[in-house]
Amino acid sequence: PLRALIGPSILNSDLSKLYEESQKLLDNGADYLHLDVMDGHFVPNLTFGHPVVKCLRSKIKEAFFETHMMVSNPEQWIAPMADAGVDQYTFHIEPVPDIEKVCRKIKESGMKVGLALKPGTPLSDVEKYISIADMVLIMTVEPGFGGQKFMENQMPKVQWLREHYPLLNIEVDGGVGPSTIECCAKAGANMIVSGTAVIGAQDQAATIKFLRDTVQK
Ligand code: DX5
Ligand code: ZN
Repeated sequence: PLRALIGPSILNSDLSKLYEESQKLLDNGADYLHLDVMDGHFVPNLTFGHPVVKCLRSKIKEAFFETHMMVSNPEQWIAPMADAGVDQYTFHIEPVPDIEKVCRKIKESGMKVGLALKPGTPLSDVEKYISIADMVLIMTVEPGFGGQKFMENQMPKVQWLREHYPLLNIEVDGGVGPSTIECCAKAGANMIVSGTAVIGAQDQAATIKFLRDTVQK
């Protein structure tokens, strides 16, 4: 069966302590790190890019790094992100004219491919690329900011994907935490991004474990 994997988003952590915060999440049981890259163009916010990811990688050798590329031209950052030590390159399909080409380039550079959909993007836009992807990300908020409210109306998309692709890695991202995880688990998501709910938790390890146990049962 598919494994339940918890990938905290460090977006709303104290970014002046990026390494410490990331290592703490891993020590507390995170299965991977979800790194939110924004270009101020595809989304109305800026975060960090490949130079920062590379520095983080130089201190954290083992962990699986996923970059969530909220950028207008994902093709442009494939090589730098591969060089920075990224394991999975998840990009939004909305602005991309040739999705297959971007997928191919990502694979050629040795990374896994994730295809991300904004809440308003229908599954029909991604369907024909699923066979060449390692994961599909169904956003449960409008991308751009942490700490937003979970959109339950995205669950039918997750459910439909799970019914038709039993072995596909399906990730949810946005407003996911202890109070919304049941819903994601029921729909069939197995890769869980959680930002503020994990970062702000009293007991990070217990929160991560609760999320995983809810999905894995
Ligand atoms: C939103 C980002 C998410 C977000 C998650 O644009 O892609 O990864 O930061 O944070 P929470 O869990 O707080 O919504
Ligand atoms: Zn994200």
